[in-house]
Amino acid sequence: MEKYDIGLIGLGVMGQNLVLNMERNGYTIAVYNRTKSKTKMFIKDRGKEKYIKGFFSIKEFTENLKSPRKIFLMVKAGSGVDQVISNLEPFISSDDIIIDGGNSYFMDTNRRSIASRKKNYHFMGIGISGGEEGALKGPSMMPGGSKYGWETMQDILYTISAKAKQEPCCSYMGPDGAGHYVKMVHNGIEYADMQLIAESYFFLKKMLCLKSVELSEIFSNWQESELNSYLIQITGEILTSVDSKTGQPIIDLIYDRASQKGTGKWTSKNALELGVPTSIISESVQARFLSAMKNERVNASKILHGPLPHYSDNKNRLIETTRNALYAAKLCSYAQGFSLLKTASLQYDWDLNPELIASIWRNGCIIRAKALDRIIDAFQKNNKLDNLLVDPYFTFILDNNQDDWRYLVALAIENGIPIPAFSAALAYFDGYRSLELPANLIQAQREYFGAHGFERVDKEKNELHHHKFK
Ligand code: 6PG
Repeated sequence: MEKYDIGLIGLGVMGQNLVLNMERNGYTIAVYNRTKSKTKMFIKDRGKEKYIKGFFSIKEFTENLKSPRKIFLMVKAGSGVDQVISNLEPFISSDDIIIDGGNSYFMDTNRRSIASRKKNYHFMGIGISGGEEGALKGPSMMPGGSKYGWETMQDILYTISAKAKQEPCCSYMGPDGAGHYVKMVHNGIEYADMQLIAESYFFLKKMLCLKSVELSEIFSNWQESELNSYLIQITGEILTSVDSKTGQPIIDLIYDRASQKGTGKWTSKNALELGVPTSIISESVQARFLSAMKNERVNASKILHGPLPHYSDNKNRLIETTRNALYAAKLCSYAQGFSLLKTASLQYDWDLNPELIASIWRNGCIIRAKALDRIIDAFQKNNKLDNLLVDPYFTFILDNNQDDWRYLVALAIENGIPIPAFSAALAYFDGYRSLELPANLIQAQREYFGAHGFERVDKEKNELHHHKFK
């Protein structure tokens, strides 16, 4: 009996779509799901008359895979992944490859990768971005882990991934959890991008009293500019969409309480661990937390007061100001994300390639954007760049757009409109470009109460000095 090219466990929508993508590209797939009815339903429905076969025991599933076995796990990140791996282990051999395609925490992937070497099989963690549609039509893929696994899987992954200028949006990121790490940072940037867009929407809505359709037109126009990106495109579409029951814009019916599955928080936590400022990403996570305190906010809105937004100047000028500010702040969030990748690469000894990372994010993934071409250019010119902000293109935009950006932040503050990501981005920019910062006083205070020592401007660096304050 003919065996199957690839196995996939976990028939959630992402798993199902990835199976259909692989099948459409000429591969035969064996599928397994813990809940049998889900497998039956998939085979009867979306998997009907396709080169896909459902199995109902792990043993049978693994016996029906071509050697070396290539098994995708598309199960919810966490202990479920460990459970499936331990169910598979008795049935796999040393050439086989287990591929975790979920949003797993990179430290878990590191651990699973080390365990696979001890147990003598191959393990890969692949970050997959693009949501349900991406999985079906071609996602951006960030594979990491076993090098042999990558060499074996390369053709399949290239085939099923999205393409940018005919090149696959897929490339080997590095050993162990490197692929999942890059996906985590992708999501951190995704949080920042989304928050900056949401703040732009809110600022314009409040300052200019605009309706959703008018706001939609603004975002659609921005899509024709350097801001061109998937997230700007869907924002334009979201803002024109109408609820079929009430006829009202759906955006006005959606409760203002944001959820999160944790990848943005992981990025912020890891950045704190590594000592890299990623304030825009962190503020975006915090903004979701604050939004989720809806009940408290409802109470507080009756007790705490602020200014009522008002604006009587030129409407089109304010729209243009917001566009320029958004682009500058967005570039800063990329700078933070790539700065984190640089430090992580050294810390974990991964040799991450920033140009390659930007190039596989150009299509298929949620943060796909025209601006990624600028990042590729920057790293092509200098792949040791300290920070994207000092690349000539970035410097040019920040110079040009900063008056508008400062104006937006000041106006929002004056009018009581919360713009945490915009102002965190500006503080990052101002801090990063400052020759002088008040950290001398921090050092003096630490010395005063704890004799922690300080470096002196007139002596060798890394030499600690003390002073008797009284
Ligand atoms: C992607 C998305 C995807 C998912 C997020 C949502 O790249 O395809 O990032 O992974 O939609 O995990 O994350 P939150 O629930 O945390 O917003």
